[in-house]
Amino acid sequence: MEPVEFRDGKVVILDQTKLPLEIKYIQCEDLECIAEAIKMLRVRGAPALGVTAAFALALTALQHVNKPLGDFFKELERAREYIAKTRPTAVNLFWAMDRVLRKAQDSDKPWEDVVKEALRIYEENRAGEEKMAAYGAELIKEGDVILTHCNAGALATAGYGTALGVIREAWRRGKKIRVFADETRPLLQGARLTAFEMVQEGIPVTVIPDNAAAFAMARHGITKVIVGADRIAANGDVANKIGTYGVAILAREHDIPFYVAAPTSTIDPEIETGMDIPIEYRDGKEVAFIAGKRFVPDGAETLNPAFDVTPNEYVAGIITEKGVLRPPYTESIKKALTGK
Ligand code: MRU
Repeated sequence: MEPVEFRDGKVVILDQTKLPLEIKYIQCEDLECIAEAIKMLRVRGAPALGVTAAFALALTALQHVNKPLGDFFKELERAREYIAKTRPTAVNLFWAMDRVLRKAQDSDKPWEDVVKEALRIYEENRAGEEKMAAYGAELIKEGDVILTHCNAGALATAGYGTALGVIREAWRRGKKIRVFADETRPLLQGARLTAFEMVQEGIPVTVIPDNAAAFAMARHGITKVIVGADRIAANGDVANKIGTYGVAILAREHDIPFYVAAPTSTIDPEIETGMDIPIEYRDGKEVAFIAGKRFVPDGAETLNPAFDVTPNEYVAGIITEKGVLRPPYTESIKKALTGK
């Protein structure tokens, strides 16, 4: 399932807020539509955000193809700034736009190259996800019961998935595994999206409330945890959906390996530790309201951080398209990014 495509000069987005009840696509013809879709989580997940942001620049390039070069670049920069304001945590969003801009700046036909580079980012992401899935599948044993948090599947990426890509690949290789999906309050990416993808693939999946993770580890035979990531610091600290940090601590307590699956484009070498990763805080209404009805009394405050940071010491391995990185992460990450 493709969460986002660039088709006929439009950015076509599968509206994930409607899933699993309705499959609805929106066709974005301007930046406002794309920014709104990102902010509302119609399109979401770090790699999918990177691809969407790259497509936003491709759309801008096509709309300003006849402008003088200076004005054309001003429009691209304006689009970058506008999309950069949507969500701060997933580094892929910034990484993808900067890559497209660099390509345009080095090109003698920037109009064409912006579109080509955006499409290349999409294709590279997709190919990388398949490689990552193959490395990750080696870690999965027959009979594994895998807990995951949020949705790191086809919907969150260029169409294969990171954490769920690994699970999908292991299943396709014939390994009999089961998945436990944390429901992932407040926006239920686990209950709505991960369960949807697993059911579509025929992989046995059990949805649990977030607060049942410890119980599931103690009593329901969880053997591995695999999650995605929104940004990984140079030392291997991992920002991912709120609740991930708690799951990592629980996994440690139960002696269960905790893996992160993410493309190397999710690693931010500029950020030394997780403390410096910008964390998005969302509207408290997402906590106070369930299905349009307020449950938290007026007068109570809410706090709605969208992500947390898991310190690197909890991470058994980072599954990437370049192989499985192991501690010490400062070294393995540097090697994966620079070859040295
Ligand atoms: O707020 P979301 O739904 O965009 O958060 C998504 C996650 O936290 C995912 O786990 C992460 O982006 C990895 S997606 C392959």
